[in-house]
Amino acid sequence: MSEPRKILVTSALPYANGSIHLGHMLEYIQTDMWVRFQKHRGNQCIYVCADDAHGSAIMLRAEKEGITPEQLIANVQAEHSADFADFMVDFDNFHSTHAEENRELSSQIYLKLRDAGHIATRSITQYFDPEKKMFLADRFIKGTCPKCGTEDQYGDNCEKCGATYAPTDLKDPKSAISGATPVLKDSQHFFFKLPDFQQMLQTWTRSGTLQDAVANKIAEWLDAGLQQWDISRDAPYFGFEIPDEPGKYFYVWLDAPIGYMASFKNLCNRTLELDFDAFWGKDSTAELYHFIGKDIVNFHALFWPAMLEGAGYRKPTGINVHGYLTVNGQKMSKSRGTFIKARTYLDHLSPEYLRYYYAAKLGRGVDDLDLNLEDFVQKVNSDLVGKVVNIASRCAGFINKGNAGVMVDTNAAPELTEAFLAAAPSIADAYEARDFARAMREIMGLADRANAWIADKAPWSLNKQEGKQDEVQAICATGVNLFRQLVIFLKPVLPLLAADAEAFLNVAPLTWNDHTTLLSNHQLNEFKPLMTRIDPVKVQAMTDASKEDLTASQTDTGAAAPAGNGELAKDPLSPEIEFDTFAAVDLRVALIVKAEHVEGADKLLRLTLDIGDEQRNVFSGIKSAYPDPSKLDGRLTMMIANLKPRKMKFGISEGMVMAAGPGGEEIYLLSPDSGAKPGQRIK
Ligand code: 2FM
Ligand code: ZN
Repeated sequence: MSEPRKILVTSALPYANGSIHLGHMLEYIQTDMWVRFQKHRGNQCIYVCADDAHGSAIMLRAEKEGITPEQLIANVQAEHSADFADFMVDFDNFHSTHAEENRELSSQIYLKLRDAGHIATRSITQYFDPEKKMFLADRFIKGTCPKCGTEDQYGDNCEKCGATYAPTDLKDPKSAISGATPVLKDSQHFFFKLPDFQQMLQTWTRSGTLQDAVANKIAEWLDAGLQQWDISRDAPYFGFEIPDEPGKYFYVWLDAPIGYMASFKNLCNRTLELDFDAFWGKDSTAELYHFIGKDIVNFHALFWPAMLEGAGYRKPTGINVHGYLTVNGQKMSKSRGTFIKARTYLDHLSPEYLRYYYAAKLGRGVDDLDLNLEDFVQKVNSDLVGKVVNIASRCAGFINKGNAGVMVDTNAAPELTEAFLAAAPSIADAYEARDFARAMREIMGLADRANAWIADKAPWSLNKQEGKQDEVQAICATGVNLFRQLVIFLKPVLPLLAADAEAFLNVAPLTWNDHTTLLSNHQLNEFKPLMTRIDPVKVQAMTDASKEDLTASQTDTGAAAPAGNGELAKDPLSPEIEFDTFAAVDLRVALIVKAEHVEGADKLLRLTLDIGDEQRNVFSGIKSAYPDPSKLDGRLTMMIANLKPRKMKFGISEGMVMAAGPGGEEIYLLSPDSGAKPGQRIK
């Protein structure tokens, strides 16, 4: 047995001025599943988070509500904590950035940076609201777009024509807070000299700390050259005053990541065996991972490691970046009822449905994840209720009635229990790599095999025959053991189901290693239904309630909403490609000669394509939209003909057909206009 690893994990700190929604939840669930997996495996894994409590948006919102910022953040912290707890997101500590530990650490880090010469000061000119007596961030200034003349645009970009500009370019500028005409005013600002760390960042960002797509984006920023980072704001500001600089405050993004450390420090202060330096000291051998959305990569992969390095702390082991959440293929929308708050979801549905659905769709990349509500109902019902829970409910009754709830010690399917055992390392690797989708696929593959075996043995028929009782008991005990293995594999994703299963199985909390053993001669407890199917009516009620939330919404602070974790904004990681790269793609008109099902494949169709001079065999994941493949026979579509052939389980795929849409029934195969001929190339 290798030594348990020491791992510290964080999720991005949610702003303390709004509710948690399902976009945020994607990240917290992703992180929680990974942390639970590590704990399940026996590693020491500490998961900390906090509310991100500073900044002018919070100050202004409190003012609008007629309460102090301290009251506002306390209220929001209580709401956030309840949302997380009810989604089974199990932080070891959920703190606040407005806390003494954070004040101390932020000051100390700043002073170390200052004393090492990494802080510069200079005067900058900014718009100032003469009524509110405060400097205005770009999003607090509105005016007429200098380019297209559209009124009521924010100070940095025009929503109508997309132009970006400086707030001073706006025509007829007004303060979005008071409506006053802002005036230009100078003030002294403090800058973190990020370029001092160019060399270090070049190496660090290429040392396996980042996913490739993220590292590539960062390389572009590094190539373009780094700028100094403005870390100060003038009073009035809700935050920490900068040491030795009265009236100057740390910008919220300076003390936010330090909040990770502060939350951990707060935990250490309450937990004897935890040592702060063992996790944050320069020579720490612990692992440190930050889970974040792709909108805040620059803060975590540039500013943060540079701050840590400059102040003499260790740097993160990895920054794990995820994509945004879409609902039904589109950006979450308040009017469509798809901007769903965590609490609204919980009012209607079990958290484990969403945890499973996210797991089933989360790979290790930065792609956006679509919560398709129809697919959600279908997938959860079919996988969790129809496959996993079904195994236990098929077997439990016979053991209860036929053998007073005692599992006999016969293993009726040694080859199957062996196969489950053999699958464990690969499932563990998938979890470790955050490829939850692969882990779920492999687990459901095992569940399919267990169900097929039970169906084949049909204990319900045997039970009606004389003298077959021992066989029935052996089959059902084996079935329950297979169910137990699946629960062990699924426990990081479904902690509630696991707890209920442990109660039914009459066992202590299961750990990963328990999958190597089987229960025999074992007394079960009474079987209660472990999970019910999702009723689509409840999903409808949830989206209806989300539309109602809209009228009661308090999230409008008069400022642009910050792109919270996982919420859809401009995609910062979608790479631009050179024309030559595009020109290298051989796009052709293809005639679908034959489209057919592939035995054993849930999602694939086999397409025989005519591209003029040859025929190609292509596997395409479009079955959900074309359940009757023969309807595609004779139709023209578009294909990429020079894609490297790919060996798949069912054969070699020689290219790719092109389709659009969010998935499920909504996949639309592209077609050329009539008159196009097979083999014609896109010019
Ligand atoms: O983007 C956000 O929602 C920020 N509140 C995240 C802060 S993460 C960390 F650096 F503190
Ligand atoms: Zn414009």
